[in-house]
Amino acid sequence: MIYLSRQPRDDLADYLGEHGWRVQFARSVADASRLMRSDDAAAGLVDLSGGFSNRDLGALEACLRRTNIGWVAVTPSVQLDDLGLRRLIRNYCFDYLKQPCSNEAINFVLGHAFGMITLCDFDVAQSVAATSDDEMVGTCDAMQQLFRTIRKLGNTDASVFIAGESGTGKELTALAIHERSERKKAPFVAINCGAIPHHLLQSELFGYERGAFTGANQRKIGRVEAAGGGTLFLDEIGDLPLESQASLLRFLQEGKIERLGGRDSIAVDVRIISATHVDLDVAMHEGRFRADLFHRLCVVRVDEPPLRARGKDIEILAHHVLQKFRSDSARKIRGFTASAIEAMYNYGWPGNVREMINRVRRAIVMAEGRLLSAEDLGLDHFTSQLPITLAQAREDAERKAIEQALLRHRHRLNEAAMDLGISRVTLYRLMGSHGLRDTDERTFDEEPD
Ligand SMILES: Nc1ncnc2c1ncn2[C@@H]1O[C@H](COP(=O)(O)OP(=O)(O)OP(=O)(O)O)[C@@H](O)[C@H]1O
Ligand SMILES: [Mg+2]
Repeated sequence: MIYLSRQPRDDLADYLGEHGWRVQFARSVADASRLMRSDDAAAGLVDLSGGFSNRDLGALEACLRRTNIGWVAVTPSVQLDDLGLRRLIRNYCFDYLKQPCSNEAINFVLGHAFGMITLCDFDVAQSVAATSDDEMVGTCDAMQQLFRTIRKLGNTDASVFIAGESGTGKELTALAIHERSERKKAPFVAINCGAIPHHLLQSELFGYERGAFTGANQRKIGRVEAAGGGTLFLDEIGDLPLESQASLLRFLQEGKIERLGGRDSIAVDVRIISATHVDLDVAMHEGRFRADLFHRLCVVRVDEPPLRARGKDIEILAHHVLQKFRSDSARKIRGFTASAIEAMYNYGWPGNVREMINRVRRAIVMAEGRLLSAEDLGLDHFTSQLPITLAQAREDAERKAIEQALLRHRHRLNEAAMDLGISRVTLYRLMGSHGLRDTDERTFDEEPD
């Protein structure tokens, strides 16, 4: 166990030693960081009396954040008035004790903290083992909420619209809804609306009769008809050209299709799930997407949380992917180094789960040791061990605050700017300097105030 205290108490250390702990003293946060090089599970006792300077608090937070150590804080009551310390205890410590407290109490709580840490490892292993190939991993509140929604949606036939950044699991969610519905024995047919040019899309969706056009040598059943009785997944619906939107809307209203070159209308019973990473509010505002179609598609809206907002799931997913692909390497890879885990928490994951899968798979192949490092993941710039200038720190914090405000307000600049206490013009400029203006935002910004 690590005993982090400016003035460690010998009697306490002796007592803990007698009760089976191997006590390692750390008189400063830097000392503690040095002791925490290994990934083994351990208990930690942090003595908060005397307080910490603002500079130390940052480093202390990095120490406490370590997931392989179960921290217990001991603190005089007055320290609990300090909001910064309260937050650290609440977010990172297994428990805390107010001084004065007995050695027995400390020993007892440390035992529990250590036990919980070893249990956590077990949890990760369990949640990985319990999932089959295509199941979704997620323990954070947002994912648990998503799972509840998926279960509820299995019981209805309502059209579902799934919004989320690329690689967040939109298709997996659509499939999960299908598999939990009455339609699970019927087909799940996915069509990528963005990948097919308009003139082919009509025949892809609705099929054609023999002789409908030159080269139509035989009848072809479209995807909508093929999904009969089951679920039709319209992926990248935001990229559907306007002309095709009209025919899709007609089908949704009537529940009938006509094959190209055919005369009969054929009734088709399908459940519609659609998804896109495009902001459809913007697209509708700009006239690129029909509002009447959107209202048909979006009876229930599901928002897929971005990976960076999933907390501990980042680590759980990384282990899951490692478990799945570890046999790609001849080496027996045991896990991730502590700084790799830290880097994964610091990184923004623009490509979300898909990017996580790619990075971990690459790391498995590249790794030279038995633990995957931040470097193997290509994330060595995201560990806090690197010296960071104040200017960099400010810039990072600014970028993070802007990203979060944009996320909260689904990229509505006026609201985000208001939250941040700056003007919309300033926000727009800052987004530019932080590289946060992609095509979507740019077009959005042309919208009049
Ligand atoms: N919660 C999760 N648990 C495990 N694997 C996941 C999870 N979410 C997504 N994946 C995996 O991540 C990859 C990307 O998922 P999916 O294709 O569903 O994302 P998407 O949102 O449709 O992406 P895109 O916008 O790029 O089409 C897939 O390999 C999927 O199996
Ligand atoms: Mg997809």
